[in-house]
Amino acid sequence: MYLRRYVSGEIIVNPSVFDPDYIPEELPFREGQLDAIAREIAYFVERGVKTNLFLHGPPGTGKTASVRKIFNEINAVFSNVKTIYVNVWQNRTRTAILSAIASALGIPVPVRGFSIPELMEYIERFTEGRKVVLALDEVDRLLSNTDILYDLSRLPSNFLLISISNRPDFLALVDPRISSTLFHSAIEFPRYTVPQLAEILRRRAELGLRPGSYDDAVLRAAAAVGYARGGDARIAIAALVEAAKLAESEGRSKITVDDVKRAKEGLELPVELDPKLNLILSILKEKGPMRSSQLYDEFRKLVPVTMRSFRNYLSQLENLGFIETRRLKTRGNVRLVIPKR
Ligand SMILES: Nc1ncnc2c1ncn2[C@@H]1O[C@H](COP(=O)(O)OP(=O)(O)OP(=O)(O)O)[C@@H](O)[C@H]1O
Ligand SMILES: [Mg+2]
Repeated sequence: MYLRRYVSGEIIVNPSVFDPDYIPEELPFREGQLDAIAREIAYFVERGVKTNLFLHGPPGTGKTASVRKIFNEINAVFSNVKTIYVNVWQNRTRTAILSAIASALGIPVPVRGFSIPELMEYIERFTEGRKVVLALDEVDRLLSNTDILYDLSRLPSNFLLISISNRPDFLALVDPRISSTLFHSAIEFPRYTVPQLAEILRRRAELGLRPGSYDDAVLRAAAAVGYARGGDARIAIAALVEAAKLAESEGRSKITVDDVKRAKEGLELPVELDPKLNLILSILKEKGPMRSSQLYDEFRKLVPVTMRSFRNYLSQLENLGFIETRRLKTRGNVRLVIPKR
């Protein structure tokens, strides 16, 4: 029986706690952020004081988990508040995002679809007299396609918006009229340290792994993998569970540090890149490091794009660790763009 090895096996007794969608009961090291979000939501619901929130931090620092957790609490505590979670990267167009909001509100969208003004009107009408907390996850991935933010900034005052971004400087990239409405208060999610990741792993292991199948050294090794990849809890958890699967598949009842090392090799970065960013990377891969102006010319042959958007793409790629840019001393503002992997 091959399947048996992986379903509730010798080591992994509760696979569901390692699901990407699993929301842990507790989010250690995020008390301050959770408290700040809860406070603003309570003010909004009880006193009508509205402060839109902007949550930012690197990948795997608990932003989505925190919002989902608070949303579960809102649903348990307030019967008159509607929570809506939309990943704007998965629903990339204005129509897709507004339709996702409409369907979360139970608005029957006809097969032909609705126009944008119709969607806006229905959303407003369906929520009249009710408070709505709307989370917009991964807003920074919209790049230059930020029209939707304009629509959302025009939603009425019964909407509290929580925007989530990897980039702290995202606010500076969008039209100030939009950013001043959408983002009032910023909450930072810093990278986790090794001891923090080890503690997060310990709690997850207690729920999901057989006691005695792991030790502190294993947790620390998996924590170190997450730390090396930017203090990312998602990667630390993946390193642990992949190591557990390796040990299980070899018929052992204990995970070793070596399993974690081997699991690490198999962990590819789970970044789903915008096709335009991929295109820039493929130009760089083919031609090697080049000046940003030259890269812009090459890229522009394939995709019509303004210099401003192009710079935006480059800084995304740099933040994600795919490229490095270096200022060329001799030539004013010109930068050399170097592919990193
Ligand atoms: N403090 C924590 N305690 C327990 N688990 C955590 C904690 N922080 C993050 N995690 C777990 O790590 C994984 C990644 O967290 P999450 O999805 O919230 O990251 P994120 O900040 O939204 O990342 P991204 O920017 O890539 O979307 C999830 O499985 C989550 O449950
Ligand atoms: Mg997230």
